[in-house]
Amino acid sequence: MSFAQRTHACGELRATHAGNQVILNGWAHRVRDLGGVCFVDLRDRTGIAQVVIDPVAHPTYGEIRSECSLSVVGTVRERSPETKNPNMTTGDIEIVVDQFSVLGPAKPLPFPVSDEEQMSNVNEELRVKHRYLDLRRPSMYRRLALRAAAVGKLRRYLDDRGFIEVETPIFTKSTPEGARDYLVPYRLDPGKFYALPQSPQQYKQLLMVAGIERYYQIAKCFRDEAQRSDRQPEFTQLDLEMSFVTQEDILSLIEGMTVSVINDLIEEFDLPKDKIEGFKRLTFDESMHLYGCDKPDLRFGLPLFDLTDAVKESAFGVFRSTAEAGGSIRGVRYPGGGHLSRKEVGQLEDFCKEFGAKGMASFSIGDELGAEAGSQADGTYVSTHGLHVRGSIVKFFPPHEMEAILDAAQAERGDLLCIVADVYAAANNVLYRLRHEIGRRTGLADKRKLAFCFVVDFPLVEWNPEANRWDSTHHPFTSPKTEDLQYIESDPGRIRADCYDVVCNGTEWASGSIRIHRPDIQERCFRLLGIDEETIKARFGHIIEAFEYGAPPHGGIAPGIDRMIMFLTDDENIREVIAFPKVGQGYDPMMDAPSAIDPMQWAEMGLRLSQ
Ligand code: AMO
Repeated sequence: MSFAQRTHACGELRATHAGNQVILNGWAHRVRDLGGVCFVDLRDRTGIAQVVIDPVAHPTYGEIRSECSLSVVGTVRERSPETKNPNMTTGDIEIVVDQFSVLGPAKPLPFPVSDEEQMSNVNEELRVKHRYLDLRRPSMYRRLALRAAAVGKLRRYLDDRGFIEVETPIFTKSTPEGARDYLVPYRLDPGKFYALPQSPQQYKQLLMVAGIERYYQIAKCFRDEAQRSDRQPEFTQLDLEMSFVTQEDILSLIEGMTVSVINDLIEEFDLPKDKIEGFKRLTFDESMHLYGCDKPDLRFGLPLFDLTDAVKESAFGVFRSTAEAGGSIRGVRYPGGGHLSRKEVGQLEDFCKEFGAKGMASFSIGDELGAEAGSQADGTYVSTHGLHVRGSIVKFFPPHEMEAILDAAQAERGDLLCIVADVYAAANNVLYRLRHEIGRRTGLADKRKLAFCFVVDFPLVEWNPEANRWDSTHHPFTSPKTEDLQYIESDPGRIRADCYDVVCNGTEWASGSIRIHRPDIQERCFRLLGIDEETIKARFGHIIEAFEYGAPPHGGIAPGIDRMIMFLTDDENIREVIAFPKVGQGYDPMMDAPSAIDPMQWAEMGLRLSQ
């Protein structure tokens, strides 16, 4: 089909083009038939221009339906002052049509492409089923453009520093990253399967043995695991690895790259974000102690406080017995929460219970009473600093304990002190979520901020009581700290690893480590993880052998590309930043994948269902 090709892009037309004859190609974003005149908002990827059609001169104008593709020949005219639209970049002009032709007619749409505000009411599966329509929306185009720019900048940053991009196979053997593998049956040897890579971890280490020294890849990874709002079964990493480096070399590269690329993107796309300056740094122990988790949201303060010492002899039984049993009494301040009603405090307690808390104790810090310091007749307490403390358990605490509590919490007027008593890890697990919830409710988790930090010195392994074994905190190729290697057989829980995460606004963004490059240490670590000789040989024999041929010391990291775009767009769901995402537990409603295969294919693969 021949058609008049565009002379201009819709979004570029301005009053200076008035009088020009132009040809535009695009889609009918919105059609308004006013009887005597028909307005069509013509959209291409650069923007929207208003096209004016005279129905008498063009009686077939009714063929122009929402979202048909269209070629228009017309003359640019400056709009009269009262019809100019200051909200549109092309709002000073319109195009008076001489000719038009519908290039691709459009059926009635499953949802309105032109109405961004209505989109939140559209069922998401329907959007993904018709993703080619969903992606027509300017906001979705902008996400894809932002993503492409981000990847381009990351590539250039690394290219300029001597990295080379190497592609690694998709049909491979399992690399354990903690999820189930996606498997592909091998037709020529029924019963054998490829695994899709959970990450290119082993390949990148083998590239270091191969002397590549500086590798990166925009790598697809595949993981069969429970889905969450920041997870997809297939996702993209910026995977990188370097030889002859220390942890510091990798951290400074990542920090420099992130600051440069993110700040460029903020500027280029005019994103409503403050430029970032640098990364804070915390050890794993500090992070757990201060924020209850290894992925703290550092856009705001509110560190957790610990009352265990202050209340270990308390008359309040729950606190005393928890402390006596070796547990912790920990809490977090909720600025402004002192004004919450009893019911609202109850709802906060329910929130804590959802994450396993047995309960949540609280103190409301109210306004000064003018009363003398000390316990009051009404069961409240006035502190030496004039803070008025209310709450059903205040009466259990004599003045010296109450002062110690207020001091440890750094309580301020208007606060609600939220307190959980449990074993250390369980109390942390509840309180970190509560702290993030408080950040969200109070607006302290400011959307303009991107607070990056490194969390370092993770434990090498953690005890898995269900499986009765040690599991890798990261993955089995992570190097123990040299000085902690001595505990590998005697006290594994004490070993710290040369590994690090990058966290942004409470989400893990990247994870990496210095690797084991000596076969003897790798074997000892596999043994610690309860992997027997035979399995070591079958699953990892190739990498252990490779290490026997002069492996260099090496390390790397892998930031998630999808999550990086989420930080910049403030999307709550990772699907928004992926062109063709999966929904539910891995379904693609557009392609209807996964789907049944032909009986012939079953036979060819030598497969059959067991039931
Ligand atoms: P890890 O498994 O921590 O490390 O992954 C690194 C980063 O990849 C992103 N990510 C995901 N993004 C979307 N959906 C998922 N299901 C998903 N899983 C992970 C996160 C995460 O921080 N091989 C190691 C890296 C290394 O040691 O160099 C690895 O893959 O942003």
